[in-house]
Amino acid sequence: MTIVPSSVNGALDPDDENGIKSSSRKSKAGSPAGGRSEVLSAKENPSDRRSDLNLRPQSLAEYIGQERTRAMLEMSIAAAKSRTEALDHILFYGPPGLGKTSLANVIAIEMRAKIHLSSGPSLERPRDIIGLLHQLEEGDVLFIDEIHRLNRIAEELLYPAIEDFAIDLTAGKGHATRTMRLPLPRFTLIGATTKAAMLSNALRDRFGFVCRLEFYSIPELSKIVKRTAGILSIEMNDQGVEIIASRARGTPRIANRLVRLVRDYAQYKEHKVVDADVARVALETYQVDMQGLDPTDRKLLSILIDTYGGGPVGIEALAASLGEDSDTVEDVYEPFLIQCGFIQRTPRGRVATAAAYGHLGKTAPHGQLTLKLGNDAEP
Ligand SMILES: Nc1ncnc2c1ncn2[C@@H]1O[C@H](COP(=O)(O)OP(=O)(O)O)[C@@H](O)[C@H]1O
Ligand SMILES: [Mg+2]
Repeated sequence: MTIVPSSVNGALDPDDENGIKSSSRKSKAGSPAGGRSEVLSAKENPSDRRSDLNLRPQSLAEYIGQERTRAMLEMSIAAAKSRTEALDHILFYGPPGLGKTSLANVIAIEMRAKIHLSSGPSLERPRDIIGLLHQLEEGDVLFIDEIHRLNRIAEELLYPAIEDFAIDLTAGKGHATRTMRLPLPRFTLIGATTKAAMLSNALRDRFGFVCRLEFYSIPELSKIVKRTAGILSIEMNDQGVEIIASRARGTPRIANRLVRLVRDYAQYKEHKVVDADVARVALETYQVDMQGLDPTDRKLLSILIDTYGGGPVGIEALAASLGEDSDTVEDVYEPFLIQCGFIQRTPRGRVATAAAYGHLGKTAPHGQLTLKLGNDAEP
């Protein structure tokens, strides 16, 4: 039986949209018993947002990992600063929780620029984006999160702004229509998206840099866990750090969340130091397994294997069997399962690999399509 310490549940906001309590209330028919805990969702929840205030890196040096992107930014920032120019526009894409918003903040800090935060869905009417552009001053950073959700009108208003630093305004109707071009100061647009494929080519081509953020390695996540434990004044030894890092699905947001959950557990049980045993038992309490999979991930894999014979199966059918919408499966569950080598995307649908059979303690049928067979077959 799994017992969740009351202090741990209490530590989560009862109104938390993605919190443990509400998520089970909201879970759809067909979801695993109790629903997805959301402990391992890479999507931001309100308690992440609160603790993020202290945890966000404040400089490129504090920003851990993403070496290629960081090296490129370091150079470009230095060059732009020496020319006292705004940095070129940048697009960050990759799964949630990998540090896109953090990086935008760090860039603004490094450029000593003011940052304006916005998001695609909040720029619904032309006046929303015009108002936003109007506020900009020389060298400012404009951050648009979920930029793939900008509507056509907003996107078209943005083109001259990012290309020519101007807004084109139209006045009047029919034959009397006049266009006025208003100049804008030079600014840097930073766009972030989890769905680069949904961005129009026209918009994507207007960014000077397009950077894909990668999942983090366990040593990188260990540094993040250590840093977070330090900021939150939690005593944690290296083994405790490593257990948390290795179950964080390559994602800093999840690593930080696991640190907070383990802290609550340790406090409740009156453990002074988070060591391997404390971390392991705490995470088992949340049903986070060795690879960082939770019950919904395991259910997804077992549906793929047991119901669909290992695939190939279309994402819609898979999502329906799981009781989730296909967007959630594609954005939240699948990227990490693909990263672990448990699922492959093929032109005919999703396929379970031999590693997925192995993880669930099942035997893969002979000839099962697999990327990871070489690794798994090692003695
Ligand atoms: N490279 C990093 N180094 C340290 N902490 C990080 C890093 N990337 C992300 N984080 C932590 O993870 C949290 C989530 O990152 P965020 O930038 O909000 O992700 P995204 O915008 O990609 O969803 C941040 O608040 C920060 O505390
Ligand atoms: Mg973000």
